[in-house]
Amino acid sequence: MLVRVNVTDTRDRPLRDLRVSVTDRCNFRCTYCMPRELFGPDHAFVPRDELLTFEEIARIVEAFARAGVTTVRLTGGEPLLRRDLTLLVRMLTAIPGVDDLAMTTNGALLQRVAGGLADAGLRRVTVSLDALDPDTFRRMSDTTTDVHVVLDALHAAKGAGLWPVKVNAVIRRGVNEDQVVPLARLGRDEGYVVRFIEYMDVGHTNGWRRDEVVAAAEVVDRVHAAFPLEPLAPRRDGETANRYRYLDGAGEIGVIASVTQPFCGACTRARLSPVGELFTCLFATRGTDLRAIVRNGEDDAFLDAAVEGVWQRRTDRYSELRTAATAGMPKVEMSYIGG
Ligand code: GTP
Ligand code: 5AD
Ligand code: SF4
Ligand code: SF4
Repeated sequence: MLVRVNVTDTRDRPLRDLRVSVTDRCNFRCTYCMPRELFGPDHAFVPRDELLTFEEIARIVEAFARAGVTTVRLTGGEPLLRRDLTLLVRMLTAIPGVDDLAMTTNGALLQRVAGGLADAGLRRVTVSLDALDPDTFRRMSDTTTDVHVVLDALHAAKGAGLWPVKVNAVIRRGVNEDQVVPLARLGRDEGYVVRFIEYMDVGHTNGWRRDEVVAAAEVVDRVHAAFPLEPLAPRRDGETANRYRYLDGAGEIGVIASVTQPFCGACTRARLSPVGELFTCLFATRGTDLRAIVRNGEDDAFLDAAVEGVWQRRTDRYSELRTAATAGMPKVEMSYIGG
């Protein structure tokens, strides 16, 4: 039987979501995440023996479930680059208290494995897709993968029942604002929940500039002008996206306004790095090594105390405090701790 402890942090926020980054590698080089100049052939990715094994991940996720986590999201880098990921899905699905297992992927390798992932217990996928126009897609994701591969993957996910399928689109000024309405149309036609994300100063390699952020309000205006919208109430506390529905009933969109309307106040998310560090904020500079605890043979009580202690001391609210100075800080990369 699962005994939950329900820890809260210094701002009274519970621990509910865990994002597990299973690899720091990716087959794309999105300019806002892994610019090729900095993630080239010489880049030192995590060596294989440093990665948490699936058994180690499962043991750590069990500890998080005891501390209150109900939703687990697999991410990366690109999680589907990790061999036999279906096995991990099966192991995590079996953990008492984990009610919702999702994955964020770029979709390049999803089509073939969508059915197997669903059979193993994966509930939902979110696929990153920043443009429908082939040239804009290629430029933004810096990949040779054709946009149709990602569109086919979305179809496969839908067919496999990984539903609702969500689409994440980062909108960057001067690069893909013109893709907002086409992406919204795709969502309406296929039933996908498209979420437009404000370009964030995550990591420190992307050379983020405030003037490249397209505010969520502007995105909503653009979609509304094409297909009228109305706001929807949040489904639960701590949701990243502000939701809107189409007045004609053709579904909903979300906007993730982490820059213009920070949502730290209800942030219930922790992140586990590929080598087992626990980060309590997307913008953290340091994590806590849980792998050492697991590899040193400590018992569950010790592991639980470490997880609870870190969360109880948590003060993070980076997006609420963001300034020009903080944007340049040596933060951990998104491709390392997951979106
Ligand atoms: P569901 O609503 O359960 O599907 O999950 P989600 O909203 O967390 O979805 P997803 O993992 O796709 O997150 C969407 C995007 O929001 C991420 O890729 C990030 O860009 C951003 N995001 C997620 N969590 C945080 C967070 O804690 N802080 C900030 N600043 N941005 C976040
Ligand atoms: N700003 C906003 N979103 C980002 N993502 C990656 N880097 C950034 C950034 N700098 C998004 C990706 C993907 C998710 C994992 O995070 O587009 O959808
Ligand atoms: Fe890879 Fe996702 Fe980063 Fe793009 S945003 S480089 S797909 S991890
Ligand atoms: Fe949570 Fe940090 Fe994002 Fe704020 S900036 S919502 S505290 S992860």
